[in-house]
Amino acid sequence: MEFFSETLRTIRESDPFKKGDLVEQLYTKLSRKELTFEHDAPIERIETPSYAPIVTIVRPKDVPKRKHFDTKEGQGVLLHAVAHIEYSAIDLALDSAYRFRHLPFEYYFDWIEVAHDEVRHFQMLDRLMRQVGIAYGDYPVHTALFEAGQKSGHDLVERMAVVPRYLEANGLDANPKIIQKLQSYPITPMITSIIEALEIILKEEVSHVFKGDKWFKYGCEQKGLDPSIYFEIIEKYYPGLEKKRLQLNVEARRAAGFACDELKRMGAKKCE
Ligand SMILES: [Fe+2]
Ligand SMILES: [Fe+2]
Repeated sequence: MEFFSETLRTIRESDPFKKGDLVEQLYTKLSRKELTFEHDAPIERIETPSYAPIVTIVRPKDVPKRKHFDTKEGQGVLLHAVAHIEYSAIDLALDSAYRFRHLPFEYYFDWIEVAHDEVRHFQMLDRLMRQVGIAYGDYPVHTALFEAGQKSGHDLVERMAVVPRYLEANGLDANPKIIQKLQSYPITPMITSIIEALEIILKEEVSHVFKGDKWFKYGCEQKGLDPSIYFEIIEKYYPGLEKKRLQLNVEARRAAGFACDELKRMGAKKCE
């Protein structure tokens, strides 16, 4: 079995459960070093997100708003939005493993390990979605994460900057705010379960950003770039956004590899 062709097949699978099984298989075979690597095999462009056949795609401003977390509807919308992030994150991790070649074995293992975590995150949310009576695909979704992957597919440093180090790191900031909001409602078993799921995700996402940080710095070193190139890259992809931060999860970002001078540049008041 060849690593890159299996990874591509896994990305192309739409059904999240079949995709989960394929990721499990990849992870097991890779752990046992049972896969071959054809680094020079052609790299295909992925034109449409794998979830396109099973969901309705809308513009980001048209996805349902996350509110009223004390209602089944509000909980469903929130769970669906997070599940969509996790589904997209499975493909993004796989794509980082597929697209960039001639890298150390550890690089491929790291991203398959991330995909494996994202599958678990998706499945955890899927169980909760079922408890509130919905399934993945019941609400429309946007393709912002897929597009970020497409735009950064030509360069390892840009991919690592944009996907794990910017988008997934933003999740580290956003997650505690959602937990806080959930805690402001009367506590029910469902609210408790959602908070628990979000706490697991937050903890594990730190390791994803950490892996992104590691390979971002590796890529910078290979190309003789200063890691402060990060700010230029993010400014190019998301003009003005890296400066407009309200609240940074400094502790989680520090654990994920961000330096205090970077965090201060992003607006952190205190950093140790
Ligand atoms: Fe995740
Ligand atoms: Fe992640």
